[in-house]
Amino acid sequence: MDAAHFIRRALLGVTLVVAGCGIVPGHAAAAEFQPQVGQEGKDVIWVPTAQALVDKMLDMAKVTPKDYVIDLGSGDGRTVITAAKRGARAMGIEYNPDMVELSKRNAAKERVSDKATFVKADLFESDFSQATVITMFLLPDINLKLRPKILDMKPGTRIVSNSFDMGDWADDETAKITGGDCSYYCTAHLWIVQAKVEGMWRMPEGELELQQKYQLISGTLKSGGSSTQITNGRLHGDEISFTADGVQYTGRVNGNAMEGTVKSGAGNGKWSATLAAKP
Ligand SMILES: C[S@@+](CC[C@H](N)C(=O)[O-])C[C@H]1O[C@@H](n2cnc3c(N)ncnc32)[C@H](O)[C@@H]1O
Repeated sequence: MDAAHFIRRALLGVTLVVAGCGIVPGHAAAAEFQPQVGQEGKDVIWVPTAQALVDKMLDMAKVTPKDYVIDLGSGDGRTVITAAKRGARAMGIEYNPDMVELSKRNAAKERVSDKATFVKADLFESDFSQATVITMFLLPDINLKLRPKILDMKPGTRIVSNSFDMGDWADDETAKITGGDCSYYCTAHLWIVQAKVEGMWRMPEGELELQQKYQLISGTLKSGGSSTQITNGRLHGDEISFTADGVQYTGRVNGNAMEGTVKSGAGNGKWSATLAAKP
């Protein structure tokens, strides 16, 4: 059964009245658009993220007023509005024009229209590269289609997905909530976009050749005629760490340069490297 099917099955018999779901109009005029859980969407039907999970997702992403949050497929706008209430600038990209107008009304009711904006657009044709946090509740195959664009975002960008994963890109954190208003789709995944470090790096004392698979790095450090395999190689956003010959390297990647501190039995010091060749 594919995930879209699964959502539909999960919704069978669920006559969830939208007014019970959080930031939605409770006294809409009769003529006002009323969204229905399970209604068709361009690539994904609309199922709202429970407010408790929205809160958790924004907690996991550590959203602050410095952030620019973009929700891909923003539904009734609840994630965008919640982020704006935390002081962040936030934008929802939503294909359904009725949902966009509903979101704008919801933002106005919550008095965050200055920070919470909505555009009627196809998420596949939208530029979301300026976001510092991406939130989404889409489908596994859509996440995979978006993955190359996401991996090209600035290192340190946080991605939070309701329920669906990113294939073989393992998440950095998973959280499941129980109770509250969440009875289904109560798991969130967080990824931190990592710096790209694959290639040959020159260090004052030698050469560092790195291979990378998402957060994991391997490779060799060549110095003074000897070659050592690196171990425990990891990236967390722009933070890099690895061990070579019993020496622990930690540091930060900044484009074609990285630098940090080394720790060994002999004491602490500094290290740096510059990119000499990409793979
Ligand atoms: C599962 S709902 C999630 C809504 C909201 N993000 C939330 O978590 O409550 C997916 C939303 O994506 C929208 N959508 C589907 N395909 C889209 C596309 N290609 N571009 C923009 N929005 C899309 C749907 O209309 C729906 O509102």
